Amino acid sequence: MSLTVRDLRVVFHTGRGLVWAVDGVDLDVGPGEVVGLVGESGSGKSVTLRAIARLLHSHADTTGQVRWRGQELLTLSEPAMEQIRGGQIGMVFQEPMAALNPVLSIGLQIDEVLVAHTDLDAKARRRRALELLDQVGIAAGAARLGQFAHEFSGGMRQRAMIAIALAANPQLLLADEPTTALDVTIQDQILRLLLRLKDELGMALLLVTHDLGVVAETCDRVAVMYAGRICETGTVRDVFRKPHHAYTQALLRAMPSENTGEDFDEHARLVPIPGMAPRLDAPSPGCAFTPRCTVTEPRCGVERPVLLVEGDRTSACYARDRL
Ligand SMILES: Nc1ncnc2c1ncn2[C@@H]1O[C@H](COP(=O)(O)OP(=O)(O)O)[C@@H](O)[C@H]1O
Ligand SMILES: [Mg+2]
Repeated sequence: MSLTVRDLRVVFHTGRGLVWAVDGVDLDVGPGEVVGLVGESGSGKSVTLRAIARLLHSHADTTGQVRWRGQELLTLSEPAMEQIRGGQIGMVFQEPMAALNPVLSIGLQIDEVLVAHTDLDAKARRRRALELLDQVGIAAGAARLGQFAHEFSGGMRQRAMIAIALAANPQLLLADEPTTALDVTIQDQILRLLLRLKDELGMALLLVTHDLGVVAETCDRVAVMYAGRICETGTVRDVFRKPHHAYTQALLRAMPSENTGEDFDEHARLVPIPGMAPRLDAPSPGCAFTPRCTVTEPRCGVERPVLLVEGDRTSACYARDRL
C-alpha cells in the first residue's frame, strides 16, 4: 500500500460544542490504484482528505495513523509535510476559484510548485509549465501562463488546478469532487484526463465523488462513508453487485437504475435516502445509519459494528448476511 489510513478521527471544536466529523476511518490506496470515496453530503469525505493532507485548521483535533510510503504523516514536522504536500501528494479541490490564487498568474502558481519541489532552473521550469498545460489540454499555453484564474472558464480553471497539482509528479492525487461544479461534457473530459494522466504518470488517485456513475466508470475500488465512518470498501464490481452494508444497499437502490453491471447508468447521482441526516454533534453509540435502516436489529442502535476484513473487502454491518 502506498497510503494506509487507520482509525483516523477529526473532532472540530466549535462554538456550539464538538463535532465528530471523521470518526475512525480505515482506508488503503495502493500504488496506481483509483479509489472512490462516496457518501452523502456531510459524511466527512472532504475532512478526511484534508486530514490526510494535514490541511485542517487548528480547531480540529486529528488523531489516528496516516502512513504514506512508510512515513507517519500526522506526526511529521510541518516543513517535512510541506515537502510531501504538493510534491509526492497532490490535491485537487472541488472549487477551483477558492483553491487558485486570484492575484498570481497560473504560470506563477505552477512555478511556485516547481521551485518548492524540483531542482529545475527557470528555463526548464517554464518548459515544464508549458508541458503541463499541454498535458491537461489547455491550448496556447504560452499565452495562458500569464493569465489569472478569472480569465479562465470553469473547465479551464479545473484543468489549471490539475496542472498545478501534477507539477511535481505526485505519486498520489487527492481529488475532492473535481468535476462537481462542471457540466456533464466537461466533467467527462476532466475524468478522462485524470485517468489518462494516472496511467501515464503511474500515480494513485483517491477520488471523492457523490456520483456513483463516476465510481463505476473510473474506480478500481470504492469506500462508502456515512457519518464520518467507513461502511464498507471493496472492488467496485463486488460492492455494486452485492453490498455488505445496509447503507450501500440503500444507496444503490435509491439510484434511478438498479443496474449495477457493466452498462451501469452513467451519472447516476447519489439520491438522498429518506430520513434525517445523522447528527455529528451527538454520535450514536451504535451504527449511525440505524434510524434510517430498513434491516436493522436491536443491537445496531447500541453497539457499533466494527469494520471486518474479509479478503479484499471490509464492512461494518450486522445485517451483512441478510442483505
Ligand atoms: N471547519 C469546520 N468546523 C466545524 N465543522 C466542520 C468543519 N468542516 C466540516 N465540518 C463538519 O464536518 C462534517 C463533514 O464535512 P465534510 O467532510 O465537508 O463532508 P462531505 O465532504 O462528505 O460533504 C460536516 O458536518 C461539516 O459540517
Ligand atoms: Mg465535501
